[in-house]
Parts: sequence; structure tokens; C-alpha cells
Amino acid sequence: MTRHDAEEGGPAAVAADPREMSFGEVAGEAARLHRELHRHNHLYHAEAAPEISDSAYDELFRRLQVIEAAHPGLVTPDSPTQRVGADPLESLPNIEHAAPMLSLDSAREVEEVRRFDERLRKTLGDEKIRYVLEPKLDGASLELVYVDGVLERAVTRGNGRVGEGVTENVRTIPTVPLRLRGREPPVPAFLSVRGEVIMCLSDFESLNQRRIEAAKPPYQNPRNATSGALRQLDSRITARRPLTVLAYDIMAVEGAAFDSDSEGIEALRAWGLKTPERVTVAESVEEIARYHRAFDRDRESLDYEIDGVVVKLDALAPRTLLGSTAHHPRWAIAFKFEPRKEITRIDRILVSVGRTGVLTPVALLRPVEVGGVTVSRASLHNREELERKDVREGDLVRVQRAGDVIPQVVERIDEDGHERGELFTMPGACPSCGTEPVERGPFTICPNHLACPAQLKGRITHFGSRAALDIEGLGAETAALLVEEGLVGELADLFELTEDDLLPLEGFAAVSARNLVGAIRERRQVELARFLVGLGIPEVGVAVARDLAMHFRGIEAVRSAPAEALESIHGVGEKMSAAIRGFFGAPDVRDALDRLLNRGFRFVVPDGPPAGEEGGWAGKTVVLTGTLESFSRSRLRDMLRDLGARVTGSVSSRTDFLVAGADPGSKLEKARRLGVEVLDEAQLRERLGRREGDGRPENLPARDRGRG
Ligand code: IVH
Repeated sequence: MTRHDAEEGGPAAVAADPREMSFGEVAGEAARLHRELHRHNHLYHAEAAPEISDSAYDELFRRLQVIEAAHPGLVTPDSPTQRVGADPLESLPNIEHAAPMLSLDSAREVEEVRRFDERLRKTLGDEKIRYVLEPKLDGASLELVYVDGVLERAVTRGNGRVGEGVTENVRTIPTVPLRLRGREPPVPAFLSVRGEVIMCLSDFESLNQRRIEAAKPPYQNPRNATSGALRQLDSRITARRPLTVLAYDIMAVEGAAFDSDSEGIEALRAWGLKTPERVTVAESVEEIARYHRAFDRDRESLDYEIDGVVVKLDALAPRTLLGSTAHHPRWAIAFKFEPRKEITRIDRILVSVGRTGVLTPVALLRPVEVGGVTVSRASLHNREELERKDVREGDLVRVQRAGDVIPQVVERIDEDGHERGELFTMPGACPSCGTEPVERGPFTICPNHLACPAQLKGRITHFGSRAALDIEGLGAETAALLVEEGLVGELADLFELTEDDLLPLEGFAAVSARNLVGAIRERRQVELARFLVGLGIPEVGVAVARDLAMHFRGIEAVRSAPAEALESIHGVGEKMSAAIRGFFGAPDVRDALDRLLNRGFRFVVPDGPPAGEEGGWAGKTVVLTGTLESFSRSRLRDMLRDLGARVTGSVSSRTDFLVAGADPGSKLEKARRLGVEVLDEAQLRERLGRREGDGRPENLPARDRGRG
């Protein structure tokens, strides 16, 4: 008989060939694997408390695949293997919802919420008034239907009555249970539940980064990226998109009954669905307003987009009494936040040159406040994006900020009778050095990599940035000054700078000159990984640089590494190894690097895993809560992941640390109860060994290490 060791690090099981087992044995093993895999999936994705390692999970998964390959009759729609995507469809079928999917009436002002509350009190009397409060998730609405606990279909909202069947796609989303679990309350015979499909901001940013690199147009916002992924005809594409479903409303149920919405949400959770965080109840408009304010304030630090809070009458029976209009129920209201999209005019379009020579068109805008931040410039990405949006100087445009993303021009707004400016075209000469640019896909590139002042300024800034050599006082302004004054013509020159060179420059005095010279020289003793980051090797971010350093342990070994050695490193594929070898193989890079290395570097490579290096984060499970002053949540998450930690959503006995900012909420209580170590912001910073916040250069996307 086969044995599957579900324990971490357990001995590798020697599995019998399914063709040599009796059908009863194989079917029994498949059923057992279903149960185990479903359970581990749930623990990993919904509870954030995995009990086995990823490789142990993969082993169970592969065993099930072997069995199913030998006995295709054992492949059921709820098999955990069915999450990987199926053959493409011709079109998405239209499917009627189990109950109409209404939308919500919305309020912008607290006065409107007060009127809503007064209306309910008048109809129902004060004693029935209790509201459930939830974040209003800005994603795509979805109906999930479970029959006897098995996911039977998933349907987009569509027109509210009929939507598109996206079942195959939704099966690939790890937070959606293919089979409901739980005993209490028992799994109902029929369940139609409504939820929101969302994409986390950090995942959205990496997805767009990859699209831009692959010369595809970036998605405008996480919601569009989500709808796009959800409505794919080929579910294998959806499977590669990092989607999450949060369930918040029972639309129809048979075989279970609830008195209140909050009980319903509890049940959804018990059945294994993921529900929104910070769901709570309130009895007065003041409490609602407080909740709204708190969420609005924390909005920037969430890793997903919300556009308000939802206020629903908790008791279910009176809902019927109140009824609905054609569009929305009378028992709920969306209390929205100020929008983060605004309209403004483009004063000028200029072209900036980055360290890699890419010419980026940038719109200079009439300053406008977007969600509390004044925006005066926005990226137009590249030539093709510019053409697609067809924006010109003087045009009226809609601009938006999506979480951490740089402000974007979303679209041009037509104006009757407005005489438009001339068509904007990319310049025929690099605005920095005058060299004729070359076109590469949608990009326009200045090929004068060595001598173009803009690229040199960019390289210096990057070399001194926090993720690289972290040289205090060497920011973009200083880098520009050094290049313009002819003091630095390549990175090696930085190490020859003297106080006398700096003193005549604007903004420098004796102390600042001494400090900068000292800071630069001091960093000749530096972690190899940081130095590699600083070189700006194409495709190589912080995580890969660290892996390269750990593996090769010296700069000469890295620069002369053959492709096989590079590709033996986890996460380094053919494309990346070619980029690395191309970089070090270029004669100009080789000579400049030789001169740089002549300045007397001493490289430090930590022993063992990257763990000890920066606070022992590797392998730790970390949960974040509350508002942090010097970190945005998504950046902190990336940072911790880069250090090898696993950042999850909820506290359990397996959590190693809870990072608690201001107004931490219930996670803190739970952590205390479970004896989980709690770090406040100062302790966090100390552990990270950093002076300030998390300014991670935009061009160093974090590597995603998660499963699923
Ligand atoms: S309750 C009939 N709760 O917001 C009421 N809706 O117009 C059912 N939404 O597209 C909706 N987060 O999909 C509810 N926590 C939440 C929500 C939420 C997002 C969406 C909903 C709809 C829109 C409301």
C-alpha cells in the first residue's frame, strides 16, 4: 500500500504504480488525496496557516495527477487538479443568476447616510436597527453556486439578471473552495453566494511590469485587470493571474437558515470561503462615520482597492419588508470615499530619459488633488501608449492614482469646439544627449548608453539608492549636479571625489561635502548583493541579486558565470541568464566595471541563508495590521517577502510575528491571546536594520514567492 507522508520533511513516499493497484484501492487513495489537498489549500489560502511545506503539497498534488492520468474516470469537477485550467472555450455562456444581483445606492456625504438611517428607523422602529459594515471592494462582482457543497458554477454579474459563466476560470482561483467544508453549520444543499474578485495591488503592479516588459499595454487599474482575467476563454491564462475572491452575501440558500447577515458571513467563513476583513456591526450613524473615516485613512496602506464602505441592515427578515427599487435594495447603502480620479489639463508633454536609456513621455499637468495628494505629472509610458490614448498638449484628461501606482493619465476627455494642439510625436533626438533614438517594440531608446548624461545620472542615483549601496546624500539632485559639473563621468569617478570638488557646488558646505565623500568611500565595504543591485543588471532585482551573491560569493564568479551555473539558481531562467551574460559580456560594461573594481571594494557575503543578514526573516510567517507611518503595506510586504518571509492575512498559532501599526484592531488581540510576538514600528525598523521607510526603486519589482 502506498503511504503519503503529509508531515513536513517526512520521508519521501514510495508510491505504487496505480495501474498495479485494484480500482478500489486507487479510488480510495484519490478520495483521501482530495480531502488532504482541499484541507491544505484551505489552510494555506484562507487561514494563512499552512501545515505542510510547498514541496510536500506538490508531492501530494503530483500523486493525484498520476492517479488521474491512469484512471481518467476519477477526475471529478471538484478535484484539486482541476484548478490549473481547462481547454479554451469558444465563448462564455450566458447564465441566469439564482437571484437578481442588484447594485447599491450610494452616498458621498454622512448626511445621506443619516437620511437612510432615519428612513429605516421610521419603517422598522429603533430596536431592529443594527448594521453590518464592510469594506466596499473595488473589483468584479461574482456569483458562486454550490450544489451539495460542490462548486457548480460561477457567473459574472452581467446585467444583474443574466451574467457570463466563468466557472472554469474561477476554479483556478485558490481562495475559491471547489468543495465547501465544515460541520457547523452543515453544508447546505444549495448555496448561491455573492462575492468580489480582486487583484492585490502588489500583484497588479508586478503584472503590469511584466506586461510593459513584454511590450503589452499595461492594465489601467486592478479592476480592469481582474475583469480581463476573469473573462478569459482560456482558463490556463486565468490560472496564472493572481486573483482572490472575497464572499460577502448569501443570495440564496436551501438547507440552512439565518436570522442575520452577520451569521451568514460567519457561516461562509466556516464553509471555507474567504470573507472581507474588518467586518463589524454598528448601531448609529456616528459609528458608521467613524468606520468610514478609519477605512478611508487606512486605504493607502491596504494591498487592494476599496472605494467606500457598505452599510447593510443586519436583520434579514425586515429586508423583505423594505424591498428593493428596480436597481437597489432599500436596506443597504454604499458610503463612498472621495474619488481618486480627477480631471485636469495637460500643460506640456516632455520626454524623460531613464538610466536604461528608455525615453518616457511624461505629462505635466495643471496640479490637481487626487485623493488627498497633489498630482502634477503623470507617466504616459511609451510611444504606443501615447498613440493609443491620443493625448496632446492642452488636452483635458482624467488622471488617477491606484494605490501605490504612479499617477496615470486614464483617458482623454472630448471637448466640443476645443481646438486641439498638434499631434505629439517622440523626438528625433535624445533630449539629454542629442543622439538619434532607436525604436524597440513600443519603446524608444537612446543608444548612447555610456555617455548620455541622463542615463549616467540615472545610474548614479540607482547605485546610491537604498536597495543598492544606500549612500546617504547621493540622491537624484546631487547625481545631476555631479554629472553637469563634469565631476563624474562614470561610476568609478564617484570614489575619487574630494571635499574640494564638492565645496563649490550649490547646496554644499564643509559638513555636507565631508559627509558625502565619507559616505561614498565607506561603502566600498558592502554586501555583494547590494553591489549587484547597484550595477543595474537588466532583469535582476533585489531577490535575484541576493541569490546570485549567495551562490557565487564573489564578483568575479558572477561576471564570468556560464549559463548553466546561472540557471541552476532558483528563479533564474534562460531569459534572465542571457540578460546577465549579455550585460557582463559587453566590452564597455567590462571596462567600466574593471575601473570601478579598481577602487578597492571589499564585498561581504553573509554565511548560510540570507536569513541572519537582515533580522532572520527567512521562513517566518508575518501578519501586518494597523497603519504604519514609514511603510506602505504593499511595499513592506514585498520587502519582507524578499527577505524570505511569508506574509499572510490572518493571525494563527503559526504566525511568528504580528507587525502592529496604529489602530491595530482585532488581529492584535488575537496575537496576544495566542502568544504571537508583536512588533511595533520601531521594533520592526530595528529588525529590518534600516534607517527610514521603504523607498524601493520602482524598477526593482519584487519577486513573488507565493504558491498558488
Ligand atoms: S453588498 C444587493 N458588499 O459594490 C447588495 N457589495 O453597487 C449586495 N461590492 O458591484 C452587495 N464590496 O459587487 C456588497 N462588501 C460588499 C461589497 C459590495 C463590493 C460591490 C458589489 C456591487 C457594488 C455595489
